[in-house]
Amino acid sequence: MSEHFRVEGGARLVGTVDVVGAKNSVLKLMAAALLAEGTTTLTNCPEILDVPLMADVLRDLGCAVEVDGATVTITTPAELNHEATSPSVGKLRASVCVLGPLVGRCKRAVVALPGGDAIGQRPLDMHQSGLRQLGASSTIEHGNVVAEADELRGAQIWLDFPSMGATENILMAAVLASGTTVIDNAAREPEISDLCTMLTQMGAKIEGAGTSTLTVHGVDRLEPTEHRVIGDRIVGATWGFAAAITRGDITVRGVDPHHLDLVLEKLRMAGADVSLVEDGFRVVMDERPKAVDFVTLPYPGFATDLQPFAIAMAAVADGTSMITENLFESRFRFIEEMVRMGADARTDGHHAVVRGLERLSAAPVWASDIRAGVGLVLGGLCADGVTDVWDVFHIDRGYPQFVENMQRLGANIQRVAEQA
Ligand code: UD1
Repeated sequence: MSEHFRVEGGARLVGTVDVVGAKNSVLKLMAAALLAEGTTTLTNCPEILDVPLMADVLRDLGCAVEVDGATVTITTPAELNHEATSPSVGKLRASVCVLGPLVGRCKRAVVALPGGDAIGQRPLDMHQSGLRQLGASSTIEHGNVVAEADELRGAQIWLDFPSMGATENILMAAVLASGTTVIDNAAREPEISDLCTMLTQMGAKIEGAGTSTLTVHGVDRLEPTEHRVIGDRIVGATWGFAAAITRGDITVRGVDPHHLDLVLEKLRMAGADVSLVEDGFRVVMDERPKAVDFVTLPYPGFATDLQPFAIAMAAVADGTSMITENLFESRFRFIEEMVRMGADARTDGHHAVVRGLERLSAAPVWASDIRAGVGLVLGGLCADGVTDVWDVFHIDRGYPQFVENMQRLGANIQRVAEQA
């Protein structure tokens, strides 16, 4: 039995939506709990499919994990199993983040190559190179990343590209290494800062959180902690785009609006009235969006995860938009589905040109990843007729209460369970 979402276009979304903790933070924080023996508690966790999957990965490593609504409790034993090779590992990208903590704690790690969204190549060369510079060996063997070290020693590491995953893995290996590690050209995403905050609470010595140079003075051991996950800026921005696309009025709470400075500026350029409110922001749109260009880049650039929403807005904007994707080449697969809905869009390499139309035309469409799935729902909201979005398990991996939130804002959307 597969489920799909049935979306009827035309509604203007109005109301308030509360956003909880970030998927791309909580999964790494769960991995960080491996670094300290004892019980770590995470609050404000999103109720999404990836959290129980990550809990399974940690259980296979010997942890006791309880997921109780928004609270995740992880009890890490003194002796961890160093092999993460169960099927759960292959189902999500963030599982690779157990690599750094396992090498730090066990001096040996065998981690199945991770899965996650089909958005293009996702190599691990920078993760491996960083671990090697800390003194570990790292190879790919029989579908697993294998890393071993007698001792991890601090090093100067320059990343070729500010990769989130590589920064996280190297950081989590370095906190228990001897001496000082400097990670240059580190990723600066707010989720990395959140990880630094939690590691510091655990006793790690980290300077430069939120900048592109992280300096880590290794310590002998870390202590468990209690930590509140930061609000999900990608989910928050999703609702901002939903307001702009449906000419709606949405107040988003639970997100730091400064994590979305560039996004909110883009929505203003599209004609929205954007204001900051306590613990969030409000987007009001009274007219058809104006065409705006977007270029995806690592933070503080425009997030690649928001690119499908930029395309959905461009598809109904007044004018022609150019969208440039610099991180994941397959993210433009989403455009093929938007074209089914009549979007006037074409790609050339990592550029897409989208000529805006007054309305799209409802059609059956298929989600290829979390954000593409949500982008198709946004497209369906401004299409004539009823759009069926298939493969919505992707959306459930990253958006808690997605249909319920949409309905509360006035969208005509239903979850339907039937054969495809
Ligand atoms: C994370 C996010 C994902 C987001 C992405 C970019 C999670 C679970 N996922 O993915 O939602 O879209 O950041 O903001 O947090 N690269 C290499 N070699 C490496 C590592 C990465 O070439 O060793 C390249 C990738 O192919 C990509 C770029 O670096 O082009 C950025 O990837 P990265 O920041 O590592 O993304 P993820 O951590 O996988």
